[in-house]
Amino acid sequence: MKKWTTDTWKNFPAKHLPVYQDEVELNAVLGKIKNYPPLVFAGESRSLKKELAKVVEGKAFLLQGGDCAESFAEFHPDNIRDTFKVLLQMSLVLTSSASLPVVKLGRIAGQFSKPRSSPVEVKDGVELPSYLGDNINGMEFNEKARVPDAKRLFRAYSQAASTLNLLRAFSQGGFADLRQVHLWNLGFVKKTEQEKKYKQIEDKISDALDFMEACGINPESNRRLRVVNFYTSHEALHLPYEAAMTRTDSTTGEYHDTSAHFVWIGDRTRQPDGAHVEFCRGIKNPIGIKCGPSLKSDELIRLINILNPTNESGRITLISRFGANLVESGLPKLIRPIKKEGLNVIWSCDPMHGNTIKATSGFKTRPFNDVVKEVKNVFGVHQAEGTYAGGLHIEMTGQEVTECTGGAQKISDQDLSSRYHTHCDPRLNASQALELAFLISDEIKKNSQYSKNIIKAAS
Ligand code: PEP
Ligand code: CO
Repeated sequence: MKKWTTDTWKNFPAKHLPVYQDEVELNAVLGKIKNYPPLVFAGESRSLKKELAKVVEGKAFLLQGGDCAESFAEFHPDNIRDTFKVLLQMSLVLTSSASLPVVKLGRIAGQFSKPRSSPVEVKDGVELPSYLGDNINGMEFNEKARVPDAKRLFRAYSQAASTLNLLRAFSQGGFADLRQVHLWNLGFVKKTEQEKKYKQIEDKISDALDFMEACGINPESNRRLRVVNFYTSHEALHLPYEAAMTRTDSTTGEYHDTSAHFVWIGDRTRQPDGAHVEFCRGIKNPIGIKCGPSLKSDELIRLINILNPTNESGRITLISRFGANLVESGLPKLIRPIKKEGLNVIWSCDPMHGNTIKATSGFKTRPFNDVVKEVKNVFGVHQAEGTYAGGLHIEMTGQEVTECTGGAQKISDQDLSSRYHTHCDPRLNASQALELAFLISDEIKKNSQYSKNIIKAAS
């Protein structure tokens, strides 16, 4: 392997990095972060990689979700709790459909920096630098707010630390007890078509738990029923921050980015000769690669070979995000060569980023039907290609916001303004996220049956 350090990325062209006016201050903040505790431990990333290797084999499913951009304004324990809750409920629906374990990965506790389609924003004839995420500058439309401020990096680190602390308490402290999770009130399913389906899942879980109880297996005696493994992830965009959070694991001597268990490379920064790929090459975390319509298969193969030269299973998750109508023409062109090369990857589906439109009311939105359609198309393509659709990557929140149109609540263009809180892209609200899990449960069932056949045929 060519020499790699936490600084070699600086020798490569880097896109979407903020420019700080006060470099002395930036270095002081980064120096402080370097000496602060890691947020995650290398051993945890290794456990996640092992769980992801099961997804590669078709023996588990990956659910990754959370905010497009976390913000200082929306930072509240209830918001963290509700996002966690919805992800757990979605997992329950998916597990019950697929009879497979679900690997739970939040876009949370560090998902701040955003690549923007334009470096400037123009409003009423006034042009200002774009908002780049709360860890870089402010969303308010004034000159002062838009200047990158290094102090924000430290505030974001602190927010990530306390978010993670609460998530660890929720996942390990009894809040995620299976007896409770399936009883959590799903306000929205009442009086909708989903109610019967959810009731069936509830009954199925109750019966299974009663049976286990009769056999002497209960949450008190069995830790696995009380705790869940919940992992964190974000886009590895802000390289100075990621480098400052990268530490040598004392047990192996390997480098791990301790800002999250999993990091991904965005669709706009995945150039094989670029700084983001150079940085991710040297860290041992599991890595995601966003795959949009402009990605060519030879470039993808090159990327995977750079990032995973030993073809380690669980290291690479390919997150396709084509847009509902481009999946069928675009995705097979990536799947076939990867399959032919025998590269070990998870194929996950991000049905959000290719389906963003501007509503007549002016808001950026995503029609719920397009989101569902992209997932269904992706599952269909994988079945036709003989590959396993192993994951779902969504932007969602546990709050009842009005950012994506449609769904059982029939959110219209006119409704968007009532609770449009996102700091960047429109998210599925709690109801829409759960509805999506229900709507794709049949595909998940077919998919898992199909993967069992693939495994059987291969053995
Ligand atoms: C994102 O996931 O927030 C994002 C910016 O996605 P992409 O890189 O796929 O556009
Ligand atoms: Co986004």
